[in-house]
Amino acid sequence: IVDICLSPALYPYYQKENDVVVVVDIFRATTTMCAAFNNGAASIIPVADIERAKRYKSEGFLVGAERKTRRVEFADFGNSPFEYTPDKVSGRDIVFTTTNGTRAIEAAKDCGRLFIGAFSNIDNLADTCLSSGERIVVLCAGWNNCVSMEDTLFGGAFVKKLSERAEIVFGSDAVRIAMELWEKARNSPMDYLKNADHYHRLIANGAEGDAAYCLQRNTVSVVPYYNRESKKLTVLQ
Ligand code: MLT
Repeated sequence: IVDICLSPALYPYYQKENDVVVVVDIFRATTTMCAAFNNGAASIIPVADIERAKRYKSEGFLVGAERKTRRVEFADFGNSPFEYTPDKVSGRDIVFTTTNGTRAIEAAKDCGRLFIGAFSNIDNLADTCLSSGERIVVLCAGWNNCVSMEDTLFGGAFVKKLSERAEIVFGSDAVRIAMELWEKARNSPMDYLKNADHYHRLIANGAEGDAAYCLQRNTVSVVPYYNRESKKLTVLQ
C-alpha cells in the first residue's frame, strides 16, 4: 500500500506504527539534505526550532538554518543545495532547521522507518522503500501546514516509479490526485511549477537556480534515513 499525506496537519490521520515514511520538501529542505550527504556530510541533526539550533552553534556545530526562505543570521548555511559544498561539509555533523521540512521530520520521527526524499534520489529511494515490504507514506512538508504543488508533484512521480517496479495499492484519493498532477507536468515540471507559490518565494529571494536543481532527477546516490536512537539523519551505505 502507498499513500500520500499532502500536509503535516493531516499526518495524525495517516500515522501508523510500522509505516515507511518518506518526508519530502522539494523546494528545498529535503533536496538540500540529499545534496549535503552526497557531498560527504557525516550526519544531519534535524531540529524544529531556532533556539536549539543556536545552542548547537554555540557548542561549535555547523548549522544550516532557514526561515521564510532566508538564511537565519547566526547560521553557517541557509537552505540552498549549492551552499553545502564538499570542502565545507565533508565528514561534518550539521544541525539543520527549516520552516517546514524539519517540522515534517519532527512530526513523523516515531514511524517504522523515515527516509528523506527528493527528485535527486527518486530511483534509489523507490528501491529502498519497496524492499521494506511495509506501507509507504509520502509526507509532504508543504508550507505552513498547507498543500504545496511541488511536494504533491513529487508524490505523483514517486508513486509512478513504485508502480513501475511493483504491484501497489493506492491508499487514498490523494495518490490519484498527485498522479494526475504528475501526468500533466511530467514533460516539463519546471514550466508547470512556475505557478507554484514557493517558486515565487524562491524567485523573490534570487534562488531561481535552486528551483531548477531541485527538479533534476537522480543526481545523487544517497538515501538519508532517520536514526531514532541518535536522533540524526545518516545515509544507507
Ligand atoms: C522549508 O522548510 O519550508 C523550505 O525548505 C523553505 C526553503 O528554504 O525553500
